[in-house]
Amino acid sequence: MQPVPFVDLRRGYLAHREAIDRAVARVLETQSFVLGPAVERLEREIAALVGCEHAVGVGSGTDALVLALLALGIGPGDEVLTTPWSFFATASAIARTGATPVFVDIDPATFCLDVERAAQLVRARARVRAVLPVHLYGRVPDLGPLLEAARERGVAVVEDAAQAIGASGPPGRAGAIGTLGCFSFYPTKNLGGAGDGGMVTTNDDALAERLRSLRWHGTEPPRSYHHTALGLCSRLGGLSAAVLSAKLERFESAQAARRAHVEAYREAFADLRWLVLPELPEGHGLHQFTLRVLEGRRDALREHLQARGIGCAVFYPLPLHRQPALAGRCVVPESGLAEAERAAGEVLQLPIFPELTADERGRVIDAVRAFDAG
Ligand SMILES: Cc1ncc(COP(=O)(O)O)c(C=O)c1O
Repeated sequence: MQPVPFVDLRRGYLAHREAIDRAVARVLETQSFVLGPAVERLEREIAALVGCEHAVGVGSGTDALVLALLALGIGPGDEVLTTPWSFFATASAIARTGATPVFVDIDPATFCLDVERAAQLVRARARVRAVLPVHLYGRVPDLGPLLEAARERGVAVVEDAAQAIGASGPPGRAGAIGTLGCFSFYPTKNLGGAGDGGMVTTNDDALAERLRSLRWHGTEPPRSYHHTALGLCSRLGGLSAAVLSAKLERFESAQAARRAHVEAYREAFADLRWLVLPELPEGHGLHQFTLRVLEGRRDALREHLQARGIGCAVFYPLPLHRQPALAGRCVVPESGLAEAERAAGEVLQLPIFPELTADERGRVIDAVRAFDAG
């Protein structure tokens, strides 16, 4: 029997091949490979999707975070509060600016930053200049108390919305809630491009202008070769932007397909007491379907699925404060980060890519249930 992949990008391409090929051909005709009309179009489309005035296309989601922090003037001596439960880029972007990531544990129900605890720290730590919450797996938690504390103290909120394109939560749409929103178009993201790519969204005109300069070596158009800041070389490419615009046309239907997968899993696993199913409120971005496997059985379940050719993943095996590259460069609270540590031993993701067939989904379900019986 054919294995069930965790993701299959080729199927996504084939499902929309004509539109993607046409879009790519147009860019080849114009030879506008760095920024240009395709990027400008995508910037308008993402601004509309997010509900923001500005969207600035950059080289990757990682660069979106670095550029957002640089645009805010964050650097050595500053602290940025963030979650230890995310992809490495969330914290490395902070450290890359010279600032110090200060970790706040997660809420076990949402896998996102504990908002109340973060709000307390915004008020308690004088060196905090920004907060960087992550909408992990597509979940946008209620950031209300954190936004209030940040406003009180003049602290910026930078949303890491890399996994939450099109998502929303009680405070609004991902990328339009804080001062700046950062997106990734890495190919496996729900809106994935042809290579690395990212975007920063904001309603602040001055920040948008600074970002446009910082992504291009801190230049000040129209004065070419005049540089007023040390920026990056990080511009979104035309080919990727064109592919992304073409894929955006079927974004809603792709999200609906993901919704059908997660609902089927929820129903099929509702009686399994050794699993905790994810909360998936209205507006969830459905980037990952994340199970918690209790009783220390996560690794055994993963091996069981792999042995049957069922794709699955662990995002993430190691919390950020345990990453060797961040040793001595981050602050861990005295109380520890117990929930992030626990998540590392319990989470398991199942395939929910839009083109997964009902038959394949059924095989995933049968394999998980067979583990229960076994
Ligand atoms: C939560 C999170 N932040 C940041 C990034 C970085 O994005 P990129 O890989 O486009 O640099 C990613 C994706 O990989 C991510 O999942």
